Amino acid sequence: AATTAPAPQNAEVEVFGHRGASGYRPEHTLASYELAARMGADHIEPDLVPTKDGVLVARHEPEISGTTDVAAHPEFAARKTTKVVDGTEMTGWFTEDFTLAELKTLRAEERIPEIRPHNTVHDGLYEVPTFQEVLDLRARLSEELGRDIGVAPETKHPSYFRKLGLPLEPRLVAALERNDLNDEDAAVAVQSFEVGNLEELDERLQVRLVQLISSSGAPQDFVEAGDPRTYADMVKPEGLAEIATYADVIGPDTKVILPVDEDDHLTEPTTVVADAHAAGLEVVPYTVRAENTFLPADFRSSEDPAQWGDVLGFFDVLYDQGVDGIFSD
Ligand code: G3P
Ligand code: CA
Repeated sequence: AATTAPAPQNAEVEVFGHRGASGYRPEHTLASYELAARMGADHIEPDLVPTKDGVLVARHEPEISGTTDVAAHPEFAARKTTKVVDGTEMTGWFTEDFTLAELKTLRAEERIPEIRPHNTVHDGLYEVPTFQEVLDLRARLSEELGRDIGVAPETKHPSYFRKLGLPLEPRLVAALERNDLNDEDAAVAVQSFEVGNLEELDERLQVRLVQLISSSGAPQDFVEAGDPRTYADMVKPEGLAEIATYADVIGPDTKVILPVDEDDHLTEPTTVVADAHAAGLEVVPYTVRAENTFLPADFRSSEDPAQWGDVLGFFDVLYDQGVDGIFSD
């Protein structure tokens, strides 16, 4: 398919395989990460949460009923519970209630089978990987493919896990140091929505740090501290200058750059990309997905939510904004 020429500063847009190649394999499995690397992604993106015994594993959230077969395990039926995670009530099973050995008896499943039915043929095949296993895969594939496959771990719910006595920061730092990846030349970019988490990591890590920015609301640590700043404040020039004191990159929702109206059609772009560049920050928006249901209305091909729309057209509009990278499934 035709693509327009990218803006000059985006001649080499970095591609982050979001949860691996999650459009093609169940998310956060070694198979998903490996396929992303083989498809040409520059980086693979594991979200990180801890087990009961403190091991970092790759899941998007601690509650695992949507991405594993835990509900089919009678031995774990009594562990089903309801918790509030960052203000959201969740019912199911939580990684922090399972040892790694127990978690390893589960198998991954496709999160959105109604949108990605082709991925369900892989249900039941893959384990929940540890962060170490992701780093081992990264090393093996870098050697085999002859290029340094980047890894972009995201610390999920750091305030929540700190309160449970399972802080993510020391475990992440230890893992990167154990693998000789705490180095400014390492192909590592650590992401978080929480500011305090990144500020702490800035003290201890040499790698790139990514401030994730949602299209609404505020960082959870700000909410809990009564800090009135919102994500909308953070993308104003003063907010971006503040981010540049501890991070290198912003990872905004695409809507922060390309807002949509109530019918999901694109409206006037914001100045966030240019403002971030002026503050010395790179810009890597999340998440471009090909299916109609995830695209702005301008790029949909039909009413069918699972059918692909003009995803290359959406990439082009983002490239024309001058983004430095893209998180994509
Ligand atoms: O890390 C970028 C993007 O992954 C943040 O959103 O919810 O997919 O982890 P999420
Ligand atoms: Ca993520």
